[in-house]
Amino acid sequence: MASLDTEYLGLSLESPLVVAASPLLRDADTARHLADGGAGALVMFSLFEEQFAPRPPGRTGNGGGGSARVEPDEFLIRPHGYIEQLQRLKETVDVPVIASLNISRAGSWLGYASNLERAGADALEINIYHVASPAEASSESVEETYLEILRELKSCVSLPIALKLTPYFTSFLSLAMEFDRQGADGLVLFNRFYQPDIDIENLRLTSDLQLSTSGESRLAQRWIAMLKGRVAASLAATGGVHTTEDVIKVLMAGADVAMLCSVLLKHGVERLASIKTELEQWLDSHGYPSVDAVRGIMSEGSFPDPERVERAGYAKVINRYW
Ligand SMILES: Cc1cc2nc3c(=O)[nH]c(=O)nc-3n(C[C@H](O)[C@H](O)[C@H](O)COP(=O)(O)O)c2cc1C
Repeated sequence: MASLDTEYLGLSLESPLVVAASPLLRDADTARHLADGGAGALVMFSLFEEQFAPRPPGRTGNGGGGSARVEPDEFLIRPHGYIEQLQRLKETVDVPVIASLNISRAGSWLGYASNLERAGADALEINIYHVASPAEASSESVEETYLEILRELKSCVSLPIALKLTPYFTSFLSLAMEFDRQGADGLVLFNRFYQPDIDIENLRLTSDLQLSTSGESRLAQRWIAMLKGRVAASLAATGGVHTTEDVIKVLMAGADVAMLCSVLLKHGVERLASIKTELEQWLDSHGYPSVDAVRGIMSEGSFPDPERVERAGYAKVINRYW
C-alpha cells in the first residue's frame, strides 16, 4: 500500500488530508472520528482578535455583511473555553492539533498565542483578514501589516506558524517569499471570503455562508504550483478540495497537505476516510509508492519555461471558445 506519510510544518503526519478550520472540532467525538478516518492533522476553528479587544466605536469591523462591529459576546466560545477545547482535543486524538487565530493587525492579543502553546497546540494557523483602510494607500503598508503580525508572533511562541492568506495581493509570489524569508513555517492558500450580497428590495446588505464547490481548488493549485521549490515553508491547499482527484491535483501542484472543510460539512465526516482509501488505491494503481512520489510533479518548476507555458495556456483557453 502506498505510503501517505507527510511532513507539514515540521510535524510528521500519517496522511496529507488535514481538516481545515471549521466548527467540526467543536465536538471531540467528531474529532476522534476524523482522526480515526485518516486525517493527518486537525485545525481548530479560530479565535478572533475581537474576542480579546473590542474595536473602538466608529472603526469598521472585519465581519463583512454590513454589520459595523463584532462584539466579543457574539462568539460562541470564549478564549478560556477555546483552551479547554484544545486540551480536550489533545486528550482525544493522537494526530497534531493546530490552533487558529483570526487576526487583522498586530496587537496585544497576539500574546495569547503563548497560552495556546502552553495548552498543547502543535502549531498555530493565523488567518490574517485585514481590510485596508482608505488611509493605507500603499500596498507596502498593507503588506507590512502582515509581516508585523508574523514577526510579533515569532517573538511570542516557538510553535510552527502557518499563515492563511488572501490571494488578493499585487504581487502574491514576492510577498509569499518574504513571509518565507521572515520565518513563516507554512502558507495556507487561500482564505475563502464570504462576500456580502445586496437585498435589492430592502436596500440592505446581506450575508450568508455558501460552501465551496470542487473546481475552486484550481486557485490554490495554481499558486502552489508556482511557489513549490521557491519557498522552504510548507504549503497547504484550502478551498474547493472535495474529491480524491482534487487532492491528487493539489499534491501534484506541490501542496504538502490538502485541507478539507466544505466537503465534510456537506457530505459528513465519513467522506474523509473514503478519500483516504481512494487516494491509496489511486497511488497503488498508478505505480506510485508514496504521496511524496507525486508531490510537485506538476509544479511550475517541473516545466522548462513556466512563463511561456502560462501565457500559451491562457491564450489557448480563450481562443478555444470561438
Ligand atoms: C462553517 C465554516 C466555518 C469556518 N471557520 C473558519 C475558522 O474559524 N477559521 C478559519 O481560518 N477558516 C474557517 N473556515 C474556512 C475553512 O477553513 C476553509 O479554508 C474554507 O472553507 C475553504 O475550504 P473548503 O472549500 O474546503 O470549504 C470556515 C469555513 C466554513 C464553511
